[in-house]
Amino acid sequence: MKEKLNQIRQSAQKDVSEIKSLDKIEEFRVKYLGKKGELTAVMKGMGALSPEERKDVGRIANEVRTFIESTIEEKKKTIADAALNARLKSETIDVTMPGKNVQHGTLHPLTKVLNDLEDIFIGMGFSIAEGPEVELDYYNFEALNIPKDHPARDTQDTFYINDEVVLRSQTSPVQIRTMEKQAPPIRVISPGRVYRSDAVDATHSPVFHQVEGLVVDKGIKMSDLKGTLEVFVKKLYGNDTRLRFRPHHFPFTEPSAEVDISCFNCGGKGCRFCKGEGWIEILGCGMVHPKVLSKCGIDPDVYSGFAFGIGLERVALFRYDIDDIRLLYENDTRFLEQF
Ligand code: DAH
Repeated sequence: MKEKLNQIRQSAQKDVSEIKSLDKIEEFRVKYLGKKGELTAVMKGMGALSPEERKDVGRIANEVRTFIESTIEEKKKTIADAALNARLKSETIDVTMPGKNVQHGTLHPLTKVLNDLEDIFIGMGFSIAEGPEVELDYYNFEALNIPKDHPARDTQDTFYINDEVVLRSQTSPVQIRTMEKQAPPIRVISPGRVYRSDAVDATHSPVFHQVEGLVVDKGIKMSDLKGTLEVFVKKLYGNDTRLRFRPHHFPFTEPSAEVDISCFNCGGKGCRFCKGEGWIEILGCGMVHPKVLSKCGIDPDVYSGFAFGIGLERVALFRYDIDDIRLLYENDTRFLEQF
C-alpha cells in the first residue's frame, strides 16, 4: 500500500506538470481525490490493515493528499499568473512610438472678425438679430424705400427667384423685420450672407457678408451714430483711428453717409493699403428714413433711429493683409491655418 501511495504521488507529480488549463486541473482533482479517485480507493482499502499499519499508511496517505491539494492550488495560481501576464503583455503601450498627428481646425478669418465685431457691439448693449437669406422683394427693397422702378435697384445686381422673392442683396431687410416685431427701444446688429450677381474677381464675390446695425428710440440723433461708430472703430482698429463722414445717398436713410477711417497701416500718410489716400472706406450709414419707420408702424414724430451696414470681407481683408477675396472661400487649409 505504501508502494501504491508512492506511485500515486509520482504519477500525480507527472500529471500536474503537463496541465495547462483550469479545466484540466479539475479533471486532475477528480482523478486522484474524487469519489472514485485513486487516492480515495487506497484510503477505502485501509480498513483491512492492522492498527499499526493503518496508522503508518494513514499518515502517508494524508501527506499524499496534502501534496496533491497544494499542487492543485499552486497550479491554479501559476495558470492565473500566466494569463494575467499574457494580457498585460498584449496591452502594453509603447510610449516611445511616434504620435499620430491630429489636424486641428482653426477659426476662419471671417469668423474671427465677426466674433470681434459681435463682442464690441454686444458690449455696447446691442443684441443679435437674424433674417432669411431667401427674402421677399418687399423686405429687401420696397419697405426700405426702394420701389420697383428705383435706380438703386440697378446698383445691386439682385438674384431674383421670382417677381416677389430674391436672394437678399443686403442685410438691411433685417431692420424691417426687427421693427415689425419689436417696439423701440431697439438696438440690434444683424450679421449674415448676402448675394449679388457680381462677376468673381479679387474684390468681388457673388456671396459675401454684411453686418447691419439698427438703433431706434426717442431722441436718437446723428451724434449718437457718430459716437457709436467711433467706439466701434477704435475698439477694432486701435485708439488712434480717426473717422471721416462723407455725405452719401441711401434710399432708407436721410441723411446718409459713408464712413472712412484713417488708414490703420500708415495712420493717414498714404500707403499701399489705402492706395495713397490715407483713408479707407468701411461702411455706409445714416438716420433711418421717416418713411421706413412709418412702414414698420413706428411713429417718426416720436421716434428716430440710425442704421449702418458694414462689409465683413473688407474688414477681414484689411485686418489680415489678404489681397484676394477668393482666398476666403476656397477653403484651402494651408491658407486658413495662418490666422
Ligand atoms: N445696405 C447697404 C448696402 O448694401 C449698406 C447700408 C448703408 C446699410 C447704409 C445701412 C445704412 O443700414 O444705413 O450697400
